[in-house]
Parts: sequence; structure tokens; C-alpha cells
Amino acid sequence: MSTVFPDGFLWGVAFAANQAEGSYDADGKGLSQADVVPFGKDLDYVDLHEAMSPSPERIARAVETPGIAGYPKRNGSQHYTHWEEDVELFAELGIRALRMSIAWTRIFPTGVETEPNEAGLAFYERLFTRLRERGIEPVVTMSHYEMPLHLVTEYDGWAGREVVTHFERYARTIITRYRGLVKYWLTFNEINTTTIEPYTGGGVVNSGVGDRTQRAHQALHHQYVASALATTLVHEIDPDAQVGCMLARMLHYPASSDPRDVQQAQHDNDLNLSHTDVQVRGAYPGIVRRFWRDSGIEVRMAPGDEQILAAGTVDFLSFSYYMTLVSAVDPSKYGATGGNLFSTIKNPHLPTSEWGWHLDPVGIRIALTDLWTRYQVPLFIVENGLGASDTVEADGSIRDEYRIDYMQKHLTQVAEAVADGVELMGYTCWGGIDIVSASTSQMTKRYGVIHVDLDDHGQGTGARTPKASFHWYRELIANNGAQL
Ligand code: BG6
Repeated sequence: MSTVFPDGFLWGVAFAANQAEGSYDADGKGLSQADVVPFGKDLDYVDLHEAMSPSPERIARAVETPGIAGYPKRNGSQHYTHWEEDVELFAELGIRALRMSIAWTRIFPTGVETEPNEAGLAFYERLFTRLRERGIEPVVTMSHYEMPLHLVTEYDGWAGREVVTHFERYARTIITRYRGLVKYWLTFNEINTTTIEPYTGGGVVNSGVGDRTQRAHQALHHQYVASALATTLVHEIDPDAQVGCMLARMLHYPASSDPRDVQQAQHDNDLNLSHTDVQVRGAYPGIVRRFWRDSGIEVRMAPGDEQILAAGTVDFLSFSYYMTLVSAVDPSKYGATGGNLFSTIKNPHLPTSEWGWHLDPVGIRIALTDLWTRYQVPLFIVENGLGASDTVEADGSIRDEYRIDYMQKHLTQVAEAVADGVELMGYTCWGGIDIVSASTSQMTKRYGVIHVDLDDHGQGTGARTPKASFHWYRELIANNGAQL
């Protein structure tokens, strides 16, 4: 059997600290923004945005509420205490990369300390060392929806310029400490989330005071600057390491062949890609400046910011891909389907997941081709997967054929793009182990190829069990994708 995937292709799995680790107050860790987000399904929220964006009053209540009850991300899937077992399972799976994130609050509990917390640094050092001993490259995100809560309440998250300085110190600390251990860094997870869901993406508080859209765009600018500074730091401190940006690729199709719908889709795609324009090319595109003008948004830039962006361009472009969206000049003509951070026009050609997300394997090929044509830098799929409810059978097995079907179909399209000449570094499916959902905080929205025995309320043994998809993925990795 032959394969289109190059030798050394980084097959792997991915998760984030705030959704996987748990142990939210262990070994000096401070509270993060994720630790105060309540279980989305228990509360009578108007919509998901409200659940994901607690008000200052809800944050204050959460701070005064100890324990994991009602706050699932405080428990995660207990990776902090199960990490050795998890690494052994990943080694058995045969992965070559683990995409994960560092919890900033393990290193700087409130974000403003001048000296790091050694216990936090030591944890990740042990983990990276073990991964490398098992032949697994850590691919490490510096910030994945988990800034210190203190920076949220003190500075309105990334809307405050001061956070850039605090992040720079954090970035310098981890880059220096893990020099030689981490070869692939990502700066901000799904940086485009900051203007879609400003609390999750940027720690911008849902205070009801001031223009939150304006603050979100300011926060995004600060993240671009911080990302560029961190990229430059990696290049200086560890020239062998590479840095990637990370985009939630939201591919938009026109709802019809009406040129106005086509133009709307192009516009929506260009706005989505404006983030990678900044991080790959080093400057804001015209479409963003026009968007600011038309929306009355004023982004304050400090002297030198544009030079920082130009100097700190990334080495590769990583992205998540879950679904595609539909654009129309008049969306009210069409029905809507769900999403995590948004709803979209229903695409009649596509089925949806239990959570209403369009399932679109061909879209991943289009997204890859599109990104490659536009940027000509190496690409890395660092999130793709199916959130589904799994059933544990009487014999203890989990027969998740639907997940295998999802991965098989998406990876077949990925192989097509690679055969067309797209330069792809790797593919890390989302989850690996089941983790707490970023949007709804449900544990039962499962993404893993390894089941974790915990329910939505953190009850269960925490035992890990490989699912049917684990065995399928192991074989695929072993033959480097030749069976696709
Ligand atoms: C991505 C995030 O947007 O989607 C992850 O980077 C998240 O953190 C994933 O878990 C899936 O979304 P959800 O809401 O189903 O967990």
C-alpha cells in the first residue's frame, strides 16, 4: 500500500490544559478564566454566549465557591493526576505528536508575579521529557482559553495593554525553560475567537458597560502584538524551534449563485483569513481597516506595534476544522443550524452532528487548498474531530463507528489535498482522551479515541478505555495513512 503522507508526518491527538488537566488549585496553580465558567446545560441561559461569558457578579460568586461542583473545567478529565497513564496510552496509539497547552496559571498564578511557580514549570518539564522518551513531539500552545483570572478582573483581559507585558514574561519563561524540549510552539489558540466570543478568546468581561465589540477588537490587536513578540522570542532563544499561528478556519459557502451571495461569502472568508494575513504576512489587510471604519471601531496602536507585527511572522499555519458555514446577503431567507459560538444557515447538502454542526469532509480539502494557495507556508491541522455521546456496552467496549467514519472521510479528503501538493506537517485529532467541552462544558460531548469514565458532574472513576476508533487510528498511523 502506498501513501501520500511524507515520512515524519506528525500524526497525533490534541487537547487543552483547561479542558483536560483538572487539579485546578494544585501545586500553586491560580484560578484561570476557565475555572469560573459554569456547566452550560444546567443553567437557564438565553444562549451559549451567555453561558460562556460570565458577568462580573457570576465571576465573583464562582471565586467564592470552592470545589469542582458546577465548574467542570476545574476537574477536566483529570489528566494532571493521570498524565503518566495517558502518555503510555498515547505511545500505544503510536502518535508522533501531542498538541497540548500550558496553563499560564500553573506558571504565573495571577499573571503578574515576577518569579514563576517552580512546581508548574517542573510538571510540564516531566511531561515533555516523558513524551520525547516515547517518541512523541510536544506541540505546545501558549494560550488556549485559559488566562489568569486576575488579569481578567484587573485589566478586562486582553483589552488591557498591560497584559502584553505579562504575557511576554510568561512566554520568555517557558521558551527558555523548555528550550530543546519543545520544537513546535503555537501562540494563541483560535485567535479569531476573540472577536466572536470575547471572554473565551480574550478574557474581555461581559460587564454590560462600554462597547464590548470595541474592547474585543482592542484585545485582538494586543494578542497579535503578543503573538509576534513571542514568535520573535522563540526565534532568538531557540532557533531550532518553529512557531505557528492557530486559526479556527471557518470556510463560508455562498447560499446561492447570486453574485451578491458569492461576494458575501468571499467577504466572510476574507475576514476569517484576515487573522492569518496578520500573522503570516505581518500586516493588517485593507478589509480589516475598512471594517473598523464602517463599524466605528478605533484600535489604539502603540508606536512600534506595526514593526513588531512585521518582524514576528510565523513559520507555519495551524488551524482547526470542524464545520463549514453558509453566507447570504439576506440570511433570513434561510433556516439556521447550531454551532458552538454561532449559528449558521443550514446547508441542505450536509448532515449535522448531534450538536448541530455541519459535517463536511470535502470542506477540509477546500480549506487546505485555499490556505496553501494563499500563503504557501507549511500547514498543520491541529484540531478536527466529532463531538458525540458514546455508549459503554455491557462488555465495557465503546463501538464508536460514527467517529471512525468521520475521521476516515475527513482524512481521505486530507490525503487528496496532500496529493495535490499541499504541504502539510501533521494532523492531530481533537481530544485523544475525552475532555470537557469548551463551549457547553459537557464531559458527555465526547471527542476522544480514549474514553474517560467521568460524567458531566465530574463523577466516575476516571478510568481510561480505548474505543474502537483508537484501534482504527493506531492502524492508520502505523501504515502512515496508506489505508485511506
Ligand atoms: C475548538 C477549541 O474551537 O473547538 C477547543 O479550540 C474545543 O478548545 C473544540 O474543545 C470543540 O468545541 P466544543 O465546544 O465542542 O468543545
